[in-house]
Amino acid sequence: MNITIVGTGYVGLGTAIMLAYLGYRVTGLDTDLQKIERLRAGDLPIYEPGLDELLRQAQGNLTWTTSYEESIPKADIIFICVGTPALPSGQPNLTYLESAARSVARNLDGKTQIIVNKSTVPIGTADWMTRILEEHAVHYHTNRYDIVSNPEFLREGTALSDSLYPDRIVLGGRPWAVARLHELYAPLIEQSFTPPPHVPRPSGYTRPAVVNTTLTSAEMIKYAANAFLALKISYANEMAGLCECVGADIEEVTGGIGLDARIGTRFLAAGAGWGGSCFGKDTSALVSTGEEYGYDMPILRAAIDVNRRQRTLVIEKLQRHLRLLKGKRVAVLGMAFKPNTDDLRDAPAHDFIARLASLGASVVAYDPVAMPRARQEWGHLQYSEARSASAALAGADAVIIATEWDEFRLLDWDAAVLTMRTRVVIDARNLLRMPLSVAATVEQIGKDAGPAPTMAQASA
Ligand SMILES: NC(=O)c1ccc[n+]([C@@H]2O[C@H](COP(=O)([O-])OP(=O)(O)OC[C@H]3O[C@@H](n4cnc5c(N)ncnc54)[C@H](O)[C@@H]3O)[C@@H](O)[C@H]2O)c1
Repeated sequence: MNITIVGTGYVGLGTAIMLAYLGYRVTGLDTDLQKIERLRAGDLPIYEPGLDELLRQAQGNLTWTTSYEESIPKADIIFICVGTPALPSGQPNLTYLESAARSVARNLDGKTQIIVNKSTVPIGTADWMTRILEEHAVHYHTNRYDIVSNPEFLREGTALSDSLYPDRIVLGGRPWAVARLHELYAPLIEQSFTPPPHVPRPSGYTRPAVVNTTLTSAEMIKYAANAFLALKISYANEMAGLCECVGADIEEVTGGIGLDARIGTRFLAAGAGWGGSCFGKDTSALVSTGEEYGYDMPILRAAIDVNRRQRTLVIEKLQRHLRLLKGKRVAVLGMAFKPNTDDLRDAPAHDFIARLASLGASVVAYDPVAMPRARQEWGHLQYSEARSASAALAGADAVIIATEWDEFRLLDWDAAVLTMRTRVVIDARNLLRMPLSVAATVEQIGKDAGPAPTMAQASA
């Protein structure tokens, strides 16, 4: 089968390279010429662990283009993986999707072709896209082209393993079109491929569940899944706040409740809250879909509010210890919204840096991989870059740990803290194993910090 992937971002690239590795001829199409030129040169425009290695192995099956005319007519299956970011109203911005759907429709060639929606799209989008096909496809016939909803569940940072060994594959659409996707995904469904040496099959993993459903249910499954994960994080954060009040430890609490198999420990972590390109926009999109029907979604609204509060709380903790931030030097460790990615979308660090700068602090930031991207995307923020985590801490009045990179876990914290002007550490990811051997004020999330020490104690 010939496959075209429209949109070569975090999802599209992973999908293209994974399908090429499974043996399909894949064309990656993007309107961003710079991206395509980098890919043609064998250079990945994003950071995803192991993806460069898989690209090398699958290179022979991959072509990169900006041309719909060149790639769509020969494709049997076309995956749409363009972005659907949130508008200020909370509703998803569908302009990229609309433009991609139109360009695809205009270039369908009259043979049987399937358009697969991998982008996370509002419920009902497949019907809307069918209208676009009807309007713009020259040889339109209901039995010739069809749309399948195949939502993506990969997580940045572990995208390869998530794609090759998924928990489930969700396929919504008419049976004949879904059957074609079964054929395409047979190597994944049967796990008949040879695992790449650097992404071994997890022990105990057998095969993914396949959920065959309607278009609408498939679209709903994606939103409902993300919203539930977001709820879990906000729930942990809400409990963390109460732990701080009563003197309990959130990690012991989440560990204790997560052992209940009905609850589970994953995503039950307190910290700076969720970020990234998905949870914020998907929870807002679901709430605004409810509004279209006059249906209130108070649980989701609360989860969004708790997440927003969590970011403010981190700065409040800092203010409690430093009092005045004007003229203080604050180090921010981690800029990406989570470790093992360079994705900066809706990253808590962004809001920390913006707020600190507005309060008069001078910010020095460090991230193991996301600094080059931040140079392009965070030009509006005031901060300077440090060469390393320990360089960021040297002479600082406080540090905020914003992303839980392993590199920060491995830092010699006792030595690094000794180089600070005032030893205040706000560990917004509960990354540090406490206590440190040197005297310092360390605040984590959902843990009893004890009475705030005086400045003299903190710098002792
Ligand atoms: N990033 C994730 O972890 C993740 C996980 C699951 C689902 N999703 C969903 O997948 C979709 C894509 O997300 P992403 O993170 O890969 O986005 P992204 O912004 O990284 O990539 C989107 C790509 O589409 C390209 N594009 C935009 N308009 C185009 C057009 N008309 N024709 C061709 N290319 C076009 C852009 O240039 C960009 O390269 C979103 O709907 C997102 O919600 C993302």
